[in-house]
Amino acid sequence: MFGQNAPVITTRTARPEDEAALARLDERTWTPAVSPAPPPPPGTPFFGGGTRPEDVLVAEHDGVVAGYVQLGDGFDIPAHRHVAVIDGLAVDPDRRRLGIARQLVEAAVEEARRRGGRKVTLRVLGHNTGARRVYELCGFVVEGVLRGEFRIDQRYVDDVLMARALA
Ligand SMILES: CC(C)(COP(=O)(O)OP(=O)(O)OC[C@H]1O[C@@H](n2cnc3c(N)ncnc32)[C@H](O)[C@@H]1OP(=O)(O)O)[C@@H](O)C(=O)NCCC(=O)NCCS
Repeated sequence: MFGQNAPVITTRTARPEDEAALARLDERTWTPAVSPAPPPPPGTPFFGGGTRPEDVLVAEHDGVVAGYVQLGDGFDIPAHRHVAVIDGLAVDPDRRRLGIARQLVEAAVEEARRRGGRKVTLRVLGHNTGARRVYELCGFVVEGVLRGEFRIDQRYVDDVLMARALA
């Protein structure tokens, strides 16, 4: 039957024991094309420093951790409580173009809705066309562009603010 042996993609909340797999994903997915921050030094822990397992959704592909999305809060003031922020998204380079990122972003949007959010925002580098397309396909629209916000590899790069309303 069609699709009988298709690999299954599932999403779930991260657990502390995902630490090694998620740290490795970060190490393998960092490039200047996707992040303005320096590469994480080898051995950098994934959890800690404000990243909690309950704010990370993990995708498993055939039972293997294949990607994650991180959901954070907006500013810590009552006026911003209705906004959730996608703080990170990464998929294993060996498992791309299978729909994993789309499924992760949709799961993050559902989690934001479950928490009572009315809007999800994120920032993406202007030249990261793959990620921008994923977000567009998930209903995000560009709400602003910070022109030349980062200087990466001797070039000025835009920071693009995207959002999806949940109401
Ligand atoms: C961007 C990223 C998360 C996409 O993950 P993915 O699981 O391969 O994405 P999906 O399979 O869900 O892609 C869905 C659609 O988005 C578009 N897309 C995804 N990656 C693309 C790329 N590199 N170039 C062009 N379009 C792309 C395609 O339309 C794709 O559908 P298709 O494969 O049927 O054509 C992944 O490439 C990645 O981890 N990149 C490095 C980290 C990163 O950029 N994070 C975002 C920071 S804001």
